[in-house]
Amino acid sequence: MRMVDIIEKKRDNHPLSKEEIDFFVQGYTKGDIPDYQMSSLLMAIYYNSMNDEEVTHFTNAVLHSGDIIDLSSIDGIKVDKHSTGGVGDKTTLVLGPLVAACGAKFAKLSGRGLGHTGGTLDKLESIEGFDISLSSEAFIKQVNDINLAVAGQTSSLAPADKELYALRDVTGTVPSIPLIAASIMSKKLASGADVIVLDVKIGKGAFMKTLEDARELARTMVKIGKNFDKKIVAFITDMSEPLGYAVGNKLEVVEAIQTLQGNGPKDLSEISIQIGAHLVHQAGITDTLKEARTMIEEKIASLEASDKFKALVKAQSGVFPDLNDYVKTKGIIAVKSESSGYVHSLDALAIGLSAMRLGAGRATKDAVIDPDVGIVLNKKVGDHVEEGEELAYLYSNKEAINEEVNTVLDAFEIKDEAVEDNPLIYEIIE
Ligand code: URA
Repeated sequence: MRMVDIIEKKRDNHPLSKEEIDFFVQGYTKGDIPDYQMSSLLMAIYYNSMNDEEVTHFTNAVLHSGDIIDLSSIDGIKVDKHSTGGVGDKTTLVLGPLVAACGAKFAKLSGRGLGHTGGTLDKLESIEGFDISLSSEAFIKQVNDINLAVAGQTSSLAPADKELYALRDVTGTVPSIPLIAASIMSKKLASGADVIVLDVKIGKGAFMKTLEDARELARTMVKIGKNFDKKIVAFITDMSEPLGYAVGNKLEVVEAIQTLQGNGPKDLSEISIQIGAHLVHQAGITDTLKEARTMIEEKIASLEASDKFKALVKAQSGVFPDLNDYVKTKGIIAVKSESSGYVHSLDALAIGLSAMRLGAGRATKDAVIDPDVGIVLNKKVGDHVEEGEELAYLYSNKEAINEEVNTVLDAFEIKDEAVEDNPLIYEIIE
């Protein structure tokens, strides 16, 4: 088989066979296929896409390029959730304890944040002592003991994806639905869960900008999951404005704990409860989705869910934070509105990038983050604001941040007429 023939076939818009897909994934991972040929094929896929059969073969080839985690020694149904990434998205921190308190086994491998999007590992590591590098034995024991563990993805999980993603990043081929679907699903399938809920974000702060694209990505990933005999559901949710009010690692941990205690923002609480209800129901813990929702609400009210978060922190050697004395920055700077009216839009991408520049995120893979800094919103879409009233607070350890104050101010679009908030959940694809 020759790589040039595969490139020409895809260039001319013909479907690739399983053998051809295995050939280029294995060849590229081994270093036998050069970057220039792989780049050319990626661009042909970007333009001519892949059908469901090709994407499933592609996912399978990437999945089998590394270790597949065996969770069979965990008793019960293992559940997992994946978000395509966003700003202020601390859902995993809330969801894990919620479903674990209901009896589901939440065995989660997470990644770090890059660019304007945050990562669960960075948020957890902002907790003093929290250890994300569990051995597979420790990971499995912890899920058996407390129904919950969150650890870092190792480089042996879907290594072909790591190579391919790095190449896509520099060849303009990231935003391709089959490539994104195979990238995400190969890692999810390698993580070994039985039940998966995907949270596909749309809006300014997300990969997918339109409902049509988000629907196609969600449909493709659900199809792949079903081909691998997984119970899988995809939510399509809003990321035009940040989720909740807090953006930044420690700030988000505080908001997640408040949500587990029943005092969280409406959007974060609702998304966590709805995704959690699907996981609990699909895990066979309740007969109906409604019962799963009721169970989750009871676990919040009884504080069993927030106790689970405490158990997670303790099991992974962390020190549970004192919320009143947790986030410490040199300054907290208020961003005040220059007009009165209603917030019509709040640019999640601008807020995410501004938080990143304050030090809450990474502009490059090796950048070091400052766990204390970030942005806390005071107003969101639909809210009324008076001239001079605070729109947001910047938690900063930097001296000169006028530029960020202006960026955050510009992220708010304020108009005279009242406006409805954006829908939180657009669709659920089963
Ligand atoms: N997240 C991934 O893991 N892969 C992609 O291609 C895009 C988002």
